[in-house]
Amino acid sequence: MKTVKVGLREKSYDILIGYPLDEIGGILKKHTKGIKSLIVTNPTVAGYYLETVERSLQKAGFQVFVAQVPDGEEHKSQAEASKLYAKCLEYRLERESIIVGLGGGVIGDLAGYVAATFMRGLPIVQVPTTLVAQVDSSVGGKVAVNLPEGKNLVGSFYQPFLVYIDLAVLKTLPVEEIEVGMAEVIKYGIILDKKFLEYLEKKIEKLRELDMQVLERVVARCCQLKAGVVKKDEREKGLRAILNFGHTLGHALEALTDYKKYKHGEAVAIGMVGACRIAEKMNMFKKEARDRVEHLIEKAGLPARIGAELSVDSIVQVLSLDKKVRAGRVRFVLPERMGKVVVRNDVPEDIVRDVVTGLME
Ligand code: NAD
Ligand code: GLY
Repeated sequence: MKTVKVGLREKSYDILIGYPLDEIGGILKKHTKGIKSLIVTNPTVAGYYLETVERSLQKAGFQVFVAQVPDGEEHKSQAEASKLYAKCLEYRLERESIIVGLGGGVIGDLAGYVAATFMRGLPIVQVPTTLVAQVDSSVGGKVAVNLPEGKNLVGSFYQPFLVYIDLAVLKTLPVEEIEVGMAEVIKYGIILDKKFLEYLEKKIEKLRELDMQVLERVVARCCQLKAGVVKKDEREKGLRAILNFGHTLGHALEALTDYKKYKHGEAVAIGMVGACRIAEKMNMFKKEARDRVEHLIEKAGLPARIGAELSVDSIVQVLSLDKKVRAGRVRFVLPERMGKVVVRNDVPEDIVRDVVTGLME
């Protein structure tokens, strides 16, 4: 068991890692005076874990209500948020009532958005059940819903009062979902921690097999690294942008394929390879380091190349529309060395073209 602190003055909170789900009720009781709780989840996660959480909360004296949202990114929407507000009203939730976000990043973002906005804010505990959610989305307070025009277009920064992680829940997660989480894990090593990256190079297979010791160390380190960034720049005025490493090209690939061909982590993996290659061409990053990144990504079961169905022109065009464009320039997060990245908006288009072309070979 490990605890990582997110230091944000009066908004500080703990991330509890390696705690069993059936003990959540007793621990939450120590953090809140509220009696009512609303568990927000989806049928997939509910099938495995709802009863355990529900029982534990009831045993600790909470009155428990449940709202299920259909599974899938398309339900991270205003329409589902409105249905959840209706549930909050129906169950007469009050300012001290708690919301429990039980699920992956979709549930965490949606439940967090509802918690942030209903009655101008109810306390939320994030209970992440995917690797992506445990190492990334449950930490740092970004909450959002999608609009038909794009992902995460309506949202806020709203910190949970606790993140409660049971690592064993990952055992029911499909292996592809573990892999997409590993893309975010590798990202932390490249952007912030060379030693952690070296550890991953040795232990990536163990991580994929969900060796619990390795998993605990990895989740804790990722949460520490993210907490360190969020503490310095909660609202992404500067530093927090480094967490978008691999996301510039990654988002372009997702958007061009209507979010159907690539899972987010796969697109980010290709994006990280692209960013390393751009940095190499700009003489900022050594070829051996770039080779190491590509090797690790492949070892994690993630793609390092773009499928042949997309054209270089279409990718370059979408990149220039990316929301990271600042004053007409595309913003890339690029590595300078292992564990250190910088944000650059001066990458020449011919280098981007060269790299994208190379990724299609
Ligand atoms: P997800 O929430 O869609 O979960 C993936 C799938 O796994 C779903 O089908 C889900 O029902 C299932 N699942 C979840 N836990 C399970 C378990 N323990 N056993 C079996 N199945 C389980 O996807 P995700 O990758 O967790 O999250 C992606 C979302 O997170 C996106 O909407 C993305 O925008 C968001 N996100 C937010 C942040 C942030 O900082 N807020 C960061 C990264 C990603
Ligand atoms: N996932 C990126 C961030 O939290 O800023």
